[in-house]
Amino acid sequence: MQVITSIRAMQACALRWKRAGVRVGFVPTMGYLHEGHLSLVRLARAEADVVVVSIFVNPTQFLPGEDLEKYPRDLERDRRLCEGARVDVIFAPAADEMYVPGHSVAVEETELSQGLCGASRPGHFRGVTTVVAKLFNIVLPNVAVFGAKDYQQAAVIKRMVRDLNFPLKIVVAPILREADGLAMSSRNKYLVGALRNDALVLRHSLEKARAEVRKSSRPIPAARLKTKLKRFIERTPAARLDYVEFFDPDTLVPVRNVTPGTHLALAVFIGKTRLIDNARL
Ligand code: PAJ
Repeated sequence: MQVITSIRAMQACALRWKRAGVRVGFVPTMGYLHEGHLSLVRLARAEADVVVVSIFVNPTQFLPGEDLEKYPRDLERDRRLCEGARVDVIFAPAADEMYVPGHSVAVEETELSQGLCGASRPGHFRGVTTVVAKLFNIVLPNVAVFGAKDYQQAAVIKRMVRDLNFPLKIVVAPILREADGLAMSSRNKYLVGALRNDALVLRHSLEKARAEVRKSSRPIPAARLKTKLKRFIERTPAARLDYVEFFDPDTLVPVRNVTPGTHLALAVFIGKTRLIDNARL
């Protein structure tokens, strides 16, 4: 396994692969890898001859006051995990090479990125689409894998690939969870002491909504179910609801009435840590 930090070297490697007809699978990450990331690597491997994992804590997708500085980083640990997962190349660029002084071009999706996390974190998806477009131009993948854990992110990236004609296929991988159902996330590292157990309120909320939909023979007004979930979540003292939304899984447009097939996403602060989860009902 090779660790490449220079953009030129990564691009040169990608072009050599291209000329040799090697299919490239790509998993973009911000590092501090866990089994969820590694499940994406396995999917990429199934679709390609070589796999590149990028590790880059992208400053442009963090808002002022968010956790950019304290976001967990451990390249040595990530390197071991990637080696074990038979990754071919880790691409780990420096922030000042990714964003040269005076950079003035960005990529923005203007529809799917408006609601949900886009509403709570204005500018976040602009940072995501910009860095992912740059990474696609550097790694030149045939296939790139994203996780359903970040459901809106995957939808926004698919739209970017469609609308800007990136010549690659996007695969969306299912959410990997801990044994007790907490969705795996690098930010789970912040959940010390009782907070770890409090974080289960996200998964319990998804189950509660699912049960409500299952037992109702008629569509349920989304507003009513939202109020119910908000009350349920805030029974956990460390939990503060950021948003809960019921929406169409393809357009991400909020629905008035919840039926089987509606998608649910939520963001909850557990202490200072903002966690997200989602499910098809
Ligand atoms: P990061 O949070 O490191 O996630 C990298 C990829 O792993 C994303 O596609 C995410 O959806 C996926 N992932 C995370 N946890 C998962 C889980 N429990 N199950 C399945 N997949 C999971 O998402 C980002 O980084 C960044 O926004 C990035 C796309 C790299 C752009 O900077």
